[in-house]
Amino acid sequence: MQPSANQPATNPLMQLNVNREVVFDLSSSESRVIKQLVNVSNDESMTLTSIIDHDTIIDKSLLPKRADCAWLYGTKYWDMLDERQKMEVMWAEVGRDASMFIWLEQLLPPFYVGYVNNYREGFAKEIYEYFMIFAKEEIVHTLMFRKWLDLTHEQLWPAPSARYSGLLPYIPHLHPVIGVLWTLTVEWAAETNAIFQTQKPEVEPVTKKMFHEHHKEEVRHITFGRKMVSNWFENAPEKDKAIVRGAFANMLDAIIDLMTYNTDLQKRVSFQLPFDASDEAFAAEIRNSENNQRINSQRFAEQKEWYKQLGICHA
Ligand SMILES: [Fe+2]
Ligand SMILES: [Fe+2]
Repeated sequence: MQPSANQPATNPLMQLNVNREVVFDLSSSESRVIKQLVNVSNDESMTLTSIIDHDTIIDKSLLPKRADCAWLYGTKYWDMLDERQKMEVMWAEVGRDASMFIWLEQLLPPFYVGYVNNYREGFAKEIYEYFMIFAKEEIVHTLMFRKWLDLTHEQLWPAPSARYSGLLPYIPHLHPVIGVLWTLTVEWAAETNAIFQTQKPEVEPVTKKMFHEHHKEEVRHITFGRKMVSNWFENAPEKDKAIVRGAFANMLDAIIDLMTYNTDLQKRVSFQLPFDASDEAFAAEIRNSENNQRINSQRFAEQKEWYKQLGICHA
């Protein structure tokens, strides 16, 4: 995938040098962690039918997530909906979460297998193996989330906006740490959202189990991403770090905004919402609601702190 005609032909991140002989210079303890991820993944990776098979029934009379994690919860707009409409909105919202994982995770295998093909000699064996395992696991996850959409009759949501996807055409041409950091930024936030809202007794059991089993593999992906990114930040020249900090400065906040409220809501419910869900000013009001501020400050605190320590995120 090349940058398209309406995008600049170059990106500041293209200035980053890649040492093709040693792309990531791992310490022995970092290397040990990646080897452990490889071993655990080889022993425990999920199969599609271990989570959702042909006979699975999903009970949509139950909650798909904690009610206080509904995007509009705690606002006057939430009170405008009746109980049936609230339930439909919440299932649509979790449909959005499944769609986000599909859009993200079907992108990753070509990126990571691409790195393996481009830099095979430059990766330690455990990095090579983990990129391959990561790619394989994301393919299974993508199929699983698509199966969940089929079984719930929820529709795939539109692809996320340019704020999320602007870097994508460049990623195959950039230092692998950029693809790893981009992936980490999205999947850590998406995963935090998913697990925070679904692991409660009132949540529909197949949905709850699916996100739980997914989380077990995503914890390893996040560990890998953090190790590779922090390794790069320890070894890279200051000028390269400044370029990466500039390029990613607003990305985590943009992803958190997307996780908190999505302006496509009207497209995925069967009734007319009593407000303009696509309006950006409305979206900003919802993202800043007291309830969303409260849950976001709980669930995204660890990720924001880690980004602050790397100098990527300031707020
Ligand atoms: Fe995944
Ligand atoms: Fe992942």
